[in-house]
Amino acid sequence: MTDRNPRFDSGEELLAVRDLTVTFPTADGDVQAVRGVDYVLRRGEVLGIVGESGSGKSVSSLAVMGLLPKSARIQGSITFQGEELLGLSERKLMSVRGKKIAMIFQDPMTSLNPVYKVGFQLEEAILAHNDIPKEQARKRAVELLEIVGIPFPAKRIDQFPHEFSGGMRQRVVIAIAMANNPDVIIADEPTTALDVTVQAQVLESLRTAQQETGAAMVLITHDLGVVAGQADRVLVMYAGKPVEIGTVDDIYYNPRMPYTLGLLGSLPRLDADRAERLTPIQGTPPSLLSLPPGCPFMPRCPLAKDRCAEEEPELLVTDTTDHSAACHYSALLAGKQADEVFSHTAEDAAMPESYGAEIAGVTGEVSAAAVEVPKPNTKGVS
Ligand SMILES: Nc1ncnc2c1ncn2[C@@H]1O[C@H](COP(=O)(O)OP(=O)(O)OP(=O)(O)O)[C@@H](O)[C@H]1O
Ligand code: SF4
Ligand SMILES: [Mg+2]
Repeated sequence: MTDRNPRFDSGEELLAVRDLTVTFPTADGDVQAVRGVDYVLRRGEVLGIVGESGSGKSVSSLAVMGLLPKSARIQGSITFQGEELLGLSERKLMSVRGKKIAMIFQDPMTSLNPVYKVGFQLEEAILAHNDIPKEQARKRAVELLEIVGIPFPAKRIDQFPHEFSGGMRQRVVIAIAMANNPDVIIADEPTTALDVTVQAQVLESLRTAQQETGAAMVLITHDLGVVAGQADRVLVMYAGKPVEIGTVDDIYYNPRMPYTLGLLGSLPRLDADRAERLTPIQGTPPSLLSLPPGCPFMPRCPLAKDRCAEEEPELLVTDTTDHSAACHYSALLAGKQADEVFSHTAEDAAMPESYGAEIAGVTGEVSAAAVEVPKPNTKGVS
């Protein structure tokens, strides 16, 4: 359960992404990877970005870091503390990257060099932006390893990445990200490559890093369970666009976009009735090469009507402040549960009456990976 205040209206605006679009020209045509991403990140806030594979989560974050290939056509605006980052020279961007905005990738070995000791790599990150003696950098490196929970840091600092487990390597990467007290940390699927128990430890290290540095964080994941415990607000992406954004409570207890409701319905929950079935979303996301007109979720949406085929819905404020959804019929979702909107799979339909009870056993077994959803916040949302 998050103990943070979900309202950050008064916090300093650190990062503002406005109407960001990213297109990749390819031999087969233009891939519209990001089609209008908009968000503001305030000091101390954790924004979760969730969505299926290919929804544009990484591309929109790589655009913030200035790490997209030259062929990418980028439009819109990305400001950090009021300064426009799009179009900034590589030299100026380097003073922002690592120092002001740090990024953590899914695979720690993309960030760590296997031929250098962990301590050298940490010291290098510290010295890149600080004019301090080497001994001081080493002392800070040991401190950072301790903060992220590496045992015997003074010894471990002289080991190579291959001498660390996967979870520990990711904690080293988190320590590197913290090295210069960044204002923003972008973590792109930081726990996807790890097993569930190690995931929890790495998420704990990430939370410590965020609290120690006071940084705001963008936490990218395809797992709504991960954001439930970590984020203050959640942005749901589908086919390159934000389709819902709100506080964790809004998203988990009052989703207003069928896709979000479908994601929740396919997630095992600790607070669910034991006989409750999971309701997977059928089908796959559309190709971003040639999107048809209308709502991109239409082929998978049980609420779809004629209008959905003609007009793509805009992201509009719902009846709750700070909560927006992109669906022509979002009002119909008020108070609805996933299993009232999404039918069970065809195989489910052929199952005997006792199926729910059998599933209850199954969900019980996987409950270690299930989600403890925060209790609804009745005070914070106006
Ligand atoms: N360099 C590139 N050239 C062409 N298309 C690209 C390129 N990089 C990304 N894409 C496409 O852009 C879309 C968005 O990709 P992105 O990596 O942002 O997805 P994602 O949401 O991060 O997915 P995942 O959960 O799998 O990491 C995908 O369709 C992807 O194939
Ligand atoms: S606009 Fe139509 S197709 Fe799209 S999510 Fe809403 S009801 Fe479904
Ligand atoms: Mg990605």
